[in-house]
Amino acid sequence: MCGIIGYVGQQDAVQVILEGLRRVEYRGYDSAGIAIAVDGKLAVAKRSGKLGSLAAQLAEHPLPSSGCGIGHTRWATHGGPNDTNAHPHVSADGRVALVHNGIIENFAELRAELELRGVTFISQTDTEAAAQLLALELALTNDLTVAMRTVCTRLKGAFTLVALDTQNPECLVAARRDSPLVVGVGDGENFVASDVASFIMHTREALELGQNQVVTLTRNSVQVSDFDGEPAEPQHFHVDWSPAAAEKAGFDWFMRKEIFEQPRAVFDTLLGRSDAAGRLLLDEIRIDTNELRLIDKIVVVACGSAYYAGLVAKYAIEHWIRVPVEVELASEFRYRDPIVNSRTLCVTISQSGETMDTLQAIRHARVQGAKVIAICNTVGATIARESDAVLYTRAGPEIAVASTKGFLTQVSAAYLLGLYLAQLRGTMFADEVERYLTELSEVPDKIQQVLDQAERVYALAADVVDTQDFIFLGRHVGSAVALEGALKLKEIAYLHAEGFAAGELKHGPIAIIDETTPVFVVVPPPGAGQLHDKVISNIQEVRARGARVVVLAERGDVAAGSCADYLLELPPTSVLLQPLTASVPLQLFACELATLLGNDVDQPRNLAKSVTVE
Ligand code: F6R
Repeated sequence: MCGIIGYVGQQDAVQVILEGLRRVEYRGYDSAGIAIAVDGKLAVAKRSGKLGSLAAQLAEHPLPSSGCGIGHTRWATHGGPNDTNAHPHVSADGRVALVHNGIIENFAELRAELELRGVTFISQTDTEAAAQLLALELALTNDLTVAMRTVCTRLKGAFTLVALDTQNPECLVAARRDSPLVVGVGDGENFVASDVASFIMHTREALELGQNQVVTLTRNSVQVSDFDGEPAEPQHFHVDWSPAAAEKAGFDWFMRKEIFEQPRAVFDTLLGRSDAAGRLLLDEIRIDTNELRLIDKIVVVACGSAYYAGLVAKYAIEHWIRVPVEVELASEFRYRDPIVNSRTLCVTISQSGETMDTLQAIRHARVQGAKVIAICNTVGATIARESDAVLYTRAGPEIAVASTKGFLTQVSAAYLLGLYLAQLRGTMFADEVERYLTELSEVPDKIQQVLDQAERVYALAADVVDTQDFIFLGRHVGSAVALEGALKLKEIAYLHAEGFAAGELKHGPIAIIDETTPVFVVVPPPGAGQLHDKVISNIQEVRARGARVVVLAERGDVAAGSCADYLLELPPTSVLLQPLTASVPLQLFACELATLLGNDVDQPRNLAKSVTVE
């Protein structure tokens, strides 16, 4: 939540920052602002609303030219989304400007202390307390890095901070604890940002900052230390996706582009994970194989769509390795005293790798002695770093707030992990593992076949554009697809949508169905026998209540086709792999319906991409 960028170099800082903010606006879009220091004074522009409002203000009233500045795009936590609460925040003496991502939990205490010292606050934010404290420390030391370290030791909570001092205007100081911050290393210019997307068009060389570290940037130097002032060696990495990956490439929305990128994203996630003999090689899982053989329970922790990816994975992993798999909402996990020990494998799933609920769950699991494997899309993210091992999903940047390729690649990676564990523990024959790997390798092509029917899904969206309530049903892995389909619609179309396990419907929810309710039903492949037939019966139950049924079923499934008001065909797959195709029409449907409703599909109201607060 919140996107941050700082720049120091020879280019016009305002332009570099504005462009960088545009690429991290998905992280928050309540307000935005920029500060630069010129002639010993700060020049600040900030505006409530989306980045476009700030850009319009700057076009009318440009800031002076400068080679150094900071910018912020906000997802409000403390204080409403107005101009005053927008970042950067400036200290009362006018010397320091500060941007912040996270929550300063002891801000009220700090504010009271500072007010006693005569400081006047103008905003309702927690950030302003840090800005004011920083200015007071700076007045004592005259060294922004030293002042930043002192301030950080006084702050409780999670934060990324980037500060600019009018007395040293060609230098930036940033710090992080539990909140993302990467450094971009350029030629005669350097960057700090929440996400590499902010500076990828200028440099692909980056540094990962560790926990509790401070970085000082000038045009030609990057110095990292911990909060005690001990020098630290940041880890270098090369960003291997191209700047074009962060552009819309002719699509109206990032979300639609990301839906259409799924064949490639899944392909890349599966790429190079097995040897010529078909044996899975997950080299990045650096956990002792003996430990993995001994685990007697797997706990998957994640939030939102990633949690639904975990629900899908549970069916496959339990089936393949015969070890119980619990799937937990990360936000609930540590508060219920879970039974976790050294024989538990904790699998965390996170596209951003920064979700605070998930991060806290990992920490809790590790304290209890569990080994943690992260399935993550963002190289070097905190969750990846704090886990014992990481399996990257290689989806490329996911910019739309609603997850699509993130979800499908999470399911794919979780399946790789399940097959790997089955191979390791000898619970599947080699030819069975190979059969699933072959089927997985065919998934990108099958996703493409679904995408080729997009127009049919769009026609359906146009047909139901006035509808307010939607139901999604599925059984087995299809029940998680139903939950994910409903979430997509809620997030971007702002419509009431619920997903249920189809068999559960008659235990209550069927009461809400009438002839106005479209019911989407994911039908398992006919080869799934009873499972298939039971879902056909569930369709008959809702049809009997007059509902319009949209059936997602395997091509040629006559039984399913005959009870469909609207049929969306899926390529043949085994039941376990069906979520990888069945989710796609639901994503397309939500994207199209939200577009027809005139919503901002990429930046839906009240949401942010990366939820870095609990
Ligand atoms: C839904 C969505 C969210 C995320 C959730 C977890 O479309 O995007 O529900 O899935 O916030 O985010 P990550 O995967 O970044 O941990």
